[in-house]
This record gives sequence, C-alpha cells and structure tokens, in this order.
Amino acid sequence: MITGGLGFIGSNLALRLVELGADVLLVDSLVSETGANRANIAAFEDRVSTRIVDVRDALAMERLVADQDVIFNLAGQVSHIDSMHDPFTDLDINCRAQLSLLEACRHRSPGAKIVFASTRQIYGRPDYVPVDERHIVHPTDVNGINKMAGEWYHILYNNVYGLRACSLRLTNTYGPRMLVKNNRQTAIGWFIRQILDDEEVQLFGDGLQLRDFTYVDDACDAFLRAGASDVANGQVFNLGGHEPISLKDLLDVMIDVAGRGSYKVVPFPPEKKAIDIGSVYADYSKITRALGWAPTTDMREGLEKTMSFYRDHRAEYWGDLAVAR
Ligand SMILES: NC(=O)c1ccc[n+]([C@@H]2O[C@H](COP(=O)([O-])OP(=O)(O)OC[C@H]3O[C@@H](n4cnc5c(N)ncnc54)[C@H](O)[C@@H]3O)[C@@H](O)[C@H]2O)c1
Repeated sequence: MITGGLGFIGSNLALRLVELGADVLLVDSLVSETGANRANIAAFEDRVSTRIVDVRDALAMERLVADQDVIFNLAGQVSHIDSMHDPFTDLDINCRAQLSLLEACRHRSPGAKIVFASTRQIYGRPDYVPVDERHIVHPTDVNGINKMAGEWYHILYNNVYGLRACSLRLTNTYGPRMLVKNNRQTAIGWFIRQILDDEEVQLFGDGLQLRDFTYVDDACDAFLRAGASDVANGQVFNLGGHEPISLKDLLDVMIDVAGRGSYKVVPFPPEKKAIDIGSVYADYSKITRALGWAPTTDMREGLEKTMSFYRDHRAEYWGDLAVAR
C-alpha cells in the first residue's frame, strides 16, 4: 500500500513495484495544487488498485491497512509556505493522521512494515554540514515540526508496540511526475518549467546556497530497501545526492541541458526568507552502511531524463497558468 500514491514520489514507487510484480494499493485524496495527478499512473493504472480516501479518515484507513504487508507512507502536506498560512491543516495531515494510521496498524495490521517519508527540513538551518542523523532537529517552519512528530510516532510504535517502522529523511527529490504547475513545493520543478518555457527564472538570495538532490528512482530504491529489510526497523536514515551543488550552478546545468533559459538573482521575498534554511546537504553514509543504498543518477543525467519526460507530457503537467501564478 502506498499512501500519497497519486503524487510524485508515490506514483514512481508504484510503477517500480508493479514492474517487480507486487500487488499494489494506492491511497490518495487527490489534493489540488499538490503533485497529485491522475496522469502519474496513466501508464499502469490497470495494474494497481486505487482508493480516493483522505488519510484523515481514520475509519476508512483502518479498513485499508488490514492485511497489508508493507505500507509506504508518503501522503503528506508538503508545502512549507502553506504550513505557515494554514498550520492546523498541516498538523492534521502530517501529525494526527499519522498517529491514527499507526493506531490502525497496531489493531488491524500488526505485522505490516511501514516506511515513512520524512524530510531533512526537520534539521532546520544546519549547525554543520553535511548533516548526519545525530544533528539536532530544530525545524524552521510548522511543516518541519509536524513531519518531525510524524516521524517519531513511527519510531515510537516500532519501539513500544513492535510494529516494524522506519523513516527516510528525504532531501530535495526531482524527476518525472514532480509538481511543476506551481511553486508551492520545491523550487526545482518550478525552475524546470520556466526553463523549458524559456522564461527568466528568479533565483532568491545570492544563488550560492548549497543543496543536494536525489533523483526519484534513487529515492524509490531507498524505499524498497527500507521496506524489505528488518535492519531498518526503528531507524531514521538520511537520503542525499551525489554532490552538493549551488543553486546558481544547478541553473547553469539546467540551461545547458535544455539548450535554453536564463536566470536573474533577486532578493528573497521576506516570507520565504523567514523560513529559509541556507546551505544544507546530507551525510547519507548511515543508509549506505545499513542497507547498501547510495544515489546512482548524477544531476545531468537526472535532469536530461526529467526534461525529456516533460517535453513529452507537457499537456498533463503544465496545468492552468492563471492558477500556477
Ligand atoms: N519531493 C521532495 O523533495 C520531498 C522532500 C522531503 C520529503 N518529502 C515527502 O515525501 C512525501 C511525498 O512527497 P511528494 O513530493 O511526492 O509530494 P506530492 O504532493 O507529489 O504527493 C503527496 C501526495 O499526498 C496526497 N495527500 C496529501 N494529503 C493527503 C491526505 N490528507 N489524504 C490522502 N492523500 C493526501 C496528495 O494528494 C499527493 O498525491 C511527502 O510526505 C513529503 O513530505 C518529499
């Protein structure tokens, strides 16, 4: 079962599982303005079961978790800015619904393995880089606090109730099927869209802030490894990318790959500056040691695949420009 299975990472994971011959159930409430998109599963829709259910519906979730072997728990409110505008919705989805999912598993599916999609955003502005899992968590926004709690409910239920649960702290993930119709989530999807449209990208700050990026197939590989191994139980793991790269350098690579596009460095809007985390990238050596995971797709190759996907599928992903702006 994949919660958030119609979204960006969930649908890529679903495709991978279908290719591996798994029996897959997708649970998603198709939240507008997120990466949820029916087109994400169009190529393999007939090979999965899909339920349009809100994870906040505890009774429905109790029925759905029953007898599942592995639950990839990716449904979440992802936008940091939205979490500041509407903190209680973020709390309900990223915190309360996580707790009720775990309660449902405790009563109806105690043998299930649960892999939670957490975020390296919970470290906040890092005290040192690369951030490893021992780095203290001090999130800069409501979303980070709720994701942190959601993560620790999973670890708690592993430790106290014997459910087998673990958490992956994802860094910026990119690839085919990511949200590009608005800039509510990560910047990279919005950059890709603007570059393919040959529009000038506005880069906030000085452009020197460092980030690491994980190509979505690599992220899915980490979910599969964590789902299949009991070594992961009760653990939190950072994911990461090949090499940290500044946003300026990232845009240069993007423009080179696309053969078009331009950018201008502009001051941060105050609202975004207040929750910005500066330079951050992760040490992912713990998951390499435990599960043998490491990213295999470099930035240029990942961007080539991503841009090629959007050139072919523009109509399904660009959305309504008036809404996007
Ligand atoms: N993409 C990244 O760079 C990134 C980084 C760190 C963590 N994550 C985490 O990975 C997970 C997946 O992110 P994504 O990038 O695929 O985002 P996405 O927006 O593409 O997918 C999220 C999905 O969850 C669904 N959803 C949201 N609220 C729901 C609810 N109440 N009930 C049922 N479904 C609901 C949405 O409809 C959407 O399909 C999230 O939990 C996110 O916090 C993603």
